[in-house]
Amino acid sequence: MDLGRDGVMRDLRVALIGFMGCGKSTVGPVLAGLLGYEFIDLDLDIQRTAGRTIPEIFEQDGEQAFRVMEAECLARCAQLSEIVVAPGGGVVIAQENRRLLRGAFHAVYLRARPQTIAARLREEAEHRPLLRGHPLEERIRSLMSERSAFYDEVASQIVDVDGKSPETIAEEIACGLNST
Ligand code: S3P
Repeated sequence: MDLGRDGVMRDLRVALIGFMGCGKSTVGPVLAGLLGYEFIDLDLDIQRTAGRTIPEIFEQDGEQAFRVMEAECLARCAQLSEIVVAPGGGVVIAQENRRLLRGAFHAVYLRARPQTIAARLREEAEHRPLLRGHPLEERIRSLMSERSAFYDEVASQIVDVDGKSPETIAEEIACGLNST
């Protein structure tokens, strides 16, 4: 960790990883504020670049095309510094993304219980391509069991988020960064 004379962390890239609904996009701006970094929501970046929403990309081009765009956006972020990036929950599926997250980022896994995720996503599940049309909690458990080893593999830090506010989680992460 490169700490400047003023105690500000230099040249670091933080990635918040974890399942949909774990709080990446709400914790991200709070953490970025604490660190004086820029916040990048990768899904918003993809939507801006494509000129379409994520559900439109899935519907029109399929999941694989979305994964290619996601990998390109992540690789662009790996060229920047002093950023907090929140990629979508499926970013860890691709081996190349996992390699990049391990090598170029301090990756923080926001770990949430399936019940927490289900409660948060109940209202919006129909707008999420990978959840739509499935029994919600069963689907979350099944995707989580495919992905949790990947989150563990990539994470430099793991924070359990159930029942915690975005501010508490951001402070926990910042403390972890200081002691790296
Ligand atoms: C996905 C998560 C979503 C979005 C897309 C696919 C996934 O992002 O990237 O719908 O595969 O888990 P969030 O995790 O930000 O909801």
